[in-house]
Amino acid sequence: MFKVFVTYPIPKNGIEMLKKAGYKVTVQPFEKHISRKELITKAKGSDAVLTLLTNHVDAGFMDAVGKQLRVISNFAVGYDNIDVIAAKARGIVVANTPCDEVSSAVAEHTIALLLALARNIVSADLFSLANKYKGWDPRLFIGTDISGKTLGLVGLGRIGKCVARRLERGFDIRIIYTDTVRDRAFEKEYNTSFVSLEVLLKKSDIVSLHVPLLPSTYHLVNAKKLTLMKKDAFLINTARGGVVDQSAVLARLSNGLLGGFAMDVFECEPHIAKNSKELKLLRRLENVVITPHIASATKESREAMARIAAQNIIEGLSGKLITHRVVNT
Ligand code: GLV
Repeated sequence: MFKVFVTYPIPKNGIEMLKKAGYKVTVQPFEKHISRKELITKAKGSDAVLTLLTNHVDAGFMDAVGKQLRVISNFAVGYDNIDVIAAKARGIVVANTPCDEVSSAVAEHTIALLLALARNIVSADLFSLANKYKGWDPRLFIGTDISGKTLGLVGLGRIGKCVARRLERGFDIRIIYTDTVRDRAFEKEYNTSFVSLEVLLKKSDIVSLHVPLLPSTYHLVNAKKLTLMKKDAFLINTARGGVVDQSAVLARLSNGLLGGFAMDVFECEPHIAKNSKELKLLRRLENVVITPHIASATKESREAMARIAAQNIIEGLSGKLITHRVVNT
């Protein structure tokens, strides 16, 4: 009987699929993230492990689980927490959970963050709760329209495309994008233009990041690149914290050289700031909107992720090619 270890209580539909497939399934029962040492001890002897993006899965982890380990199924689209090269060297397949439900949830959250920035939703909410509203005032919380603006998408994968479709049709926004590959069919269908990152940063009123964290995308938006951006532009990061140099962004915001910053991911997760100085700065800045890595957090998306994460294991342990294996494993 194959043994499957699940590092966190993911939605029941995924666990039920694994049990129905006849595996001995152990789910880490506590509603808390367990330490690496505990995790490895519990995962020892498993043929497959279902991990969260908060689990650091490196060569040491894989070796400690044992030679029988065949599948690592990450309950996430991003898999920068897993050493894919070490997995390949050990014949372990790594899989993730990309699907329409996740793309749609992340795209909707990106749009929510954009509207929150453009219309001062967070500051206005705090103002109202603080009982500061004294009657209608035409000068109160003047925002900016997003219709007619230019959106620059850094990354036109599944999620980038979902954002483009919704904003081009729904908000009459002009889309430009940059990526390692060009999609001419999409460009034609959604009136979208392919540009370099530099041109994108110069021309965009809104820049939204949709690339994985890789050595080539680490600090893709750095201090130098930020100087190319318009002074009133918005930057939105729902990808991974490391894609932007967070300190450089905050420095620009505090000098009035950037319009706003929405972040769902942070460079030093789970901490939103790198140090106390940065935290102080974040607390002062009104044009920053922060959410705690919840872009894919919808019921629909989480259930789809659980289904795919379980399916990855079932396919792998039954010797099939895993549909959602990640490249190079
Ligand atoms: C969340 O960040 C994911 O990668 O699914």
